[in-house]
Amino acid sequence: MPHRRPRIGILTGGGDCPGLNAVIRAVVKGGHRLGYECLGFLRGYEGLVHPVGWTPLTPDTVANIHGQGGTILGSSNSGRFTALVGENERVAIDPALLAEASSTLAKLGVCGLVCIGGDGSLGIAQQFHEHGMPVVGVPKTIDNDLGGTATTFGFDSAVATATDALDRLHTTAASHERVMVLEVMGRHAGWIALHAGIAGGGDVILIPEIAWDFGHVCAAIRAREREGKAFTLVVVAEGARLPDGATVHAGDGGKRRQVRLGGVGETVAGEIARRLDREVRAVVLGHLQRGGPPTVFDRVLATQFGAHAVRLIHEGRFGEMVCSRPPDIASVPIAEAIRRLSCVDPAGSAVLAARALGISFGDEPPLPDSADR
Ligand code: F6P
Repeated sequence: MPHRRPRIGILTGGGDCPGLNAVIRAVVKGGHRLGYECLGFLRGYEGLVHPVGWTPLTPDTVANIHGQGGTILGSSNSGRFTALVGENERVAIDPALLAEASSTLAKLGVCGLVCIGGDGSLGIAQQFHEHGMPVVGVPKTIDNDLGGTATTFGFDSAVATATDALDRLHTTAASHERVMVLEVMGRHAGWIALHAGIAGGGDVILIPEIAWDFGHVCAAIRAREREGKAFTLVVVAEGARLPDGATVHAGDGGKRRQVRLGGVGETVAGEIARRLDREVRAVVLGHLQRGGPPTVFDRVLATQFGAHAVRLIHEGRFGEMVCSRPPDIASVPIAEAIRRLSCVDPAGSAVLAARALGISFGDEPPLPDSADR
């Protein structure tokens, strides 16, 4: 029997981040008002193929979920689809999987599929689009590293968590006159480290976009000591390259084809301790940055993204990705957004502001002591 109302499908792919549920709620509530029924595919793209499946979504089932972390639909970054997409390469999805996904949408009467994801998941959405499936993309990642959009939801929440951690490390570091190294996420972009470092009063910020060395880092710590500040907070992005150019890996990424970054904080702490012969501690913030409720900013951005995704479907603008272009919410072709890493500009205003305050990026000697000037 034909469905009376057209249907919108929703899925969340890749690593979770705060704000996903706010997008889901906005799509369902916004879609409902335009006459659409909604259904959510479970565990990312896996929900489109046997045996995972889907669940109906109504304004009632999504009521008040916008403040909840995670995703009510579940997600995966190691499933049958994701494993086929490389970080900087395009690998064709198995045609049999594409055909099954396409037939699932047709059988269920889905006239528009909202794919909420990062670079990898949107790469899959692009292949769906090329295969004739009616997809629209919604960008998400705590890393803020997606092309085509000024920012992604999840980033503000991650920065808030990392800032809170720095606030807490500040008091214990000061009490014990220690150097504390905080390792934050962000993959190959330094956005989280930079913004949390500024907001949380970091003294040294090490990011992938700025080459640094231990000599300058230790000189910055000694300069603080000469000014009577016996403690130092170092924020290091997980993707920051060591002076020899290497990144530090926590694993090979298993079936995902992507390396798992992690461990640079310990390496940095160990080398500072060795060079300065003093107590240094490393803290890895890890998935705390991805969990928990979204900030107000992320709730609002995610809600706008969800509402705009429904608009794109309603207007038949498939193959587009919702994006933030302040002060507007707009869209770009998914193909233009994927595989274009958005990185920190070393000459950008945030880096300049940090330098103006005396924050070291480990790339140049500290200014002479004020007494010597
Ligand atoms: O892309 C989001 C992110 O949290 C990165 O910052 C981090 O490198 C990665 O995902 C961790 O992935 P997983 O949860 O699979 O360990």
